[in-house]
Amino acid sequence: MLHHPTPHTFQISVTVNGKLVEHEIVTHLRLLDFLRNDLGLTGSKEVCGEGECGACTIILNGQTVNACLILAVEAHGGNIVTIEGLADTQDLTELQQSFEDHHAVQCGYCIPGMVLTGEKLLERNAHPTRDEVKYELSGNICRCTGYHKIVDAIEKAGEES
Ligand code: FES
Ligand code: FES
Repeated sequence: MLHHPTPHTFQISVTVNGKLVEHEIVTHLRLLDFLRNDLGLTGSKEVCGEGECGACTIILNGQTVNACLILAVEAHGGNIVTIEGLADTQDLTELQQSFEDHHAVQCGYCIPGMVLTGEKLLERNAHPTRDEVKYELSGNICRCTGYHKIVDAIEKAGEES
């Protein structure tokens, strides 16, 4: 008869979008599931679950990462920004506004990851070239837009800042 071990639990303490969160989790919980299921932050999406598409992109300790590849326990003590933390609905960031202005959204599934990746690029390089934008987006897949409008949105946000 198979014996199933009792899952280990862990008390995670992490700052998410500026708020300290303390939560008991199982140690094998992925960070993406912690954000989406435990905290209700469903802006981060899951498509591949294998680190290929970038739909689950978040910012962890200042770096963009794929939340589907990271265990929640690895974020303990860290600082997370998800798409929900960028701006409230009344006050879009310049880049979010640029996505809207350039009609850079179709189904929207990839967009949280695209925006967070774009925000980090603009933070490092305020005026990226078109090629630099494309290079930065190489880990983010969009099945709808053909990428042109997304690249436009990030490039123009840089030009106008
Ligand atoms: S869902 Fe994480 S990279 Fe695709
Ligand atoms: S807008 Fe649909 S996947 Fe990018």
